[in-house]
Amino acid sequence: MTAQNSPRLRDLAAQHGFYVGTAVHTGAFTRAEAPYCDLLKREFNVIVAENMMKFVELSPAPDTYAWNAADALVDFAAANDMKLRGHTLVWHQQLPQWVTHRSWTPEEARSLLERHIKTVVGRYRGRVWAWDVVNEAIADTGGYRSDSFWYQQLGAEYIALAFQWAHEADPNAILYYNDYEAEGLSPKSDSVYELVRDLKQAEVPIHGVGWQMHLSEGWRVTAEHRSNAERLRGLGLELSMTEMDVRLSTPASAAQLESQARSYGEAMELALETCAALLTWGFTDKYSWIPGFRPGYGAALPFDADYQAKPAYTAMQQALLGAAQTAPLDQGA
Ligand code: XIL
Repeated sequence: MTAQNSPRLRDLAAQHGFYVGTAVHTGAFTRAEAPYCDLLKREFNVIVAENMMKFVELSPAPDTYAWNAADALVDFAAANDMKLRGHTLVWHQQLPQWVTHRSWTPEEARSLLERHIKTVVGRYRGRVWAWDVVNEAIADTGGYRSDSFWYQQLGAEYIALAFQWAHEADPNAILYYNDYEAEGLSPKSDSVYELVRDLKQAEVPIHGVGWQMHLSEGWRVTAEHRSNAERLRGLGLELSMTEMDVRLSTPASAAQLESQARSYGEAMELALETCAALLTWGFTDKYSWIPGFRPGYGAALPFDADYQAKPAYTAMQQALLGAAQTAPLDQGA
């Protein structure tokens, strides 16, 4: 079955008030590549910029903002009735050199961050559904990530400040903390939980937690994922799967693609129970960060490099259809 003559993920998702989406590749999008943009519009009802809204992309030089690509993405989302996730305001990576290669007093660093957040969130006020306000602030072994520019400049206080500033700039945006390898139970996911719990207790405007879901072959949903989801949601926070991919050693065999499909199907089932959205980090193997960052691995996304649907696509569709049996498809049609 090709994607062309089967129900679109976005229509199936919409029946559940759910959002299924993907990260958008700068090159394919700005060149307006036809098969890429057609599939993007066809299948998804939420998008996020893979890179276009990161600090280095938006502000390559002091007091200079380059909005073109990000503006085009915001317009594209609106024109195609898609929600938009903003990614990301505060991160230790993809910072411009003009920020990292000079010294700042704490006051200067603080106003730099405040200005950046308010400029970006303010520009897109009312047009961004959810912002990844702070990305990857927790270390792999738990505790704060100490190799972060922002942590080094401002201490852990930068996290609460960032949420406050984002909220001031767009009081209606849903504000997320986003991180990787914090989906199950581990010292890292404990630290994420404690961080967001403390922020909530301090009445900092935080509304959601993003599980990035950069997974590898053989990943399955376990009871740990459910209990982690439960404790986070117990804080009154929403949850989303924000950057899913499932890397395979390449070239991938048919058995590997089937195993990958199970990962996607199980993730979609869990997301329908516990999350507001599931986004993959790209949708075609033609444009995926995996081969560049993990040599020897790839084939991580639901469409192959020729835009053909893989078993992973069908598994997500089936999970959405399966859930549709309890919420009839003709409802509200
Ligand atoms: C990655 C992009 O996919 C690459 O193109 C870029 O060179 C580096 O960043 N976690 C995140 C994303 O939050 O922003 C990262 O995206 C992948 C890991």
